[in-house]
Amino acid sequence: MNSLPTHLSDAVVQARTVLAQAEHVACLTGAGISAESGIPTFRDCQTGLWAHFDPEDLASAAGFRRNPPRVWQWYRDRWKNMQETAPNAGHRALVELAGWLPRFDIITQNVDDLHEKAGHDTVWHLHGELGRFRCLDCRRPYAPAPVELTQDTPPPCPRCQGLIRPDVVWFGEMLDPAVLERAYASSRACDVMLVVGTSGMVWPASDLPCAAQAHGACLIEVNPQSTLLSAGADICLPASAGQVLPLLCSQADDTAGPDRNIGPRISGDA
Ligand code: OAD
Repeated sequence: MNSLPTHLSDAVVQARTVLAQAEHVACLTGAGISAESGIPTFRDCQTGLWAHFDPEDLASAAGFRRNPPRVWQWYRDRWKNMQETAPNAGHRALVELAGWLPRFDIITQNVDDLHEKAGHDTVWHLHGELGRFRCLDCRRPYAPAPVELTQDTPPPCPRCQGLIRPDVVWFGEMLDPAVLERAYASSRACDVMLVVGTSGMVWPASDLPCAAQAHGACLIEVNPQSTLLSAGADICLPASAGQVLPLLCSQADDTAGPDRNIGPRISGDA
């Protein structure tokens, strides 16, 4: 804490105070939380996926129909990379926070499994998951055999012979209404919304922080860059998730925290 610039350490103190009093935190994450695990974000102009690949080719049903092997291989390689990727200090800090709070919901736009690998049992994936597959035509879920995940072309659906695709949300597609409804319900009910590592450029995810604030929640943003959400946030923590999230649950530096009821709740404690 002492090595942080004053504006950041003041904001950390404020965020810890707010979290210490919270009953229900909804946490919306985006690609930025996985950046320190080595997974590229989308909109960074140097390293972002959309700086190098055309989303119309790779993230749309039309692009998949035009060139199934190209799209299959791109997602297969991202899936393989995900197998070798570990959660970072930011993911782990969120698990620790969740253990301290009466209710903590993780809503993510990410298709990776790093929140789960870090230890969250329930994660609401707004944009689907790289490790899930379904038929493009009949929509039935499909579990590819290991060998199929090494091949260069998508397997055929055993029911309708359609193409098997990753079960992620592509441009022009609807989000799963049940997942979206849960995300909205959590956003409307929470008293703190923690938004980590998203540019806030993709709707409807970008609407959740607004829904939370409209229902009285305090909005805390963690992002090294200013975003579309920053101006409206109650507390901005302009630093990387791996740097700042551990400070929100750290017991190490008591100058940072309120008198503190934040800490692991042990069953039976008064
Ligand atoms: P973006 O690439 O749009 O934004 C990533 C954000 O993370 C940026 O605001 C960065 O400043 C921030 N960031 C980078 N490194 C960070 C770090 N170490 N800690 C905290 N923040 C960091 O990604 P998303 O907002 O997640 O959709 O993009 C939303 C959706 O757009 C994605 O889910 C994807 C994409 O098209 C689908 O695939 C359907």
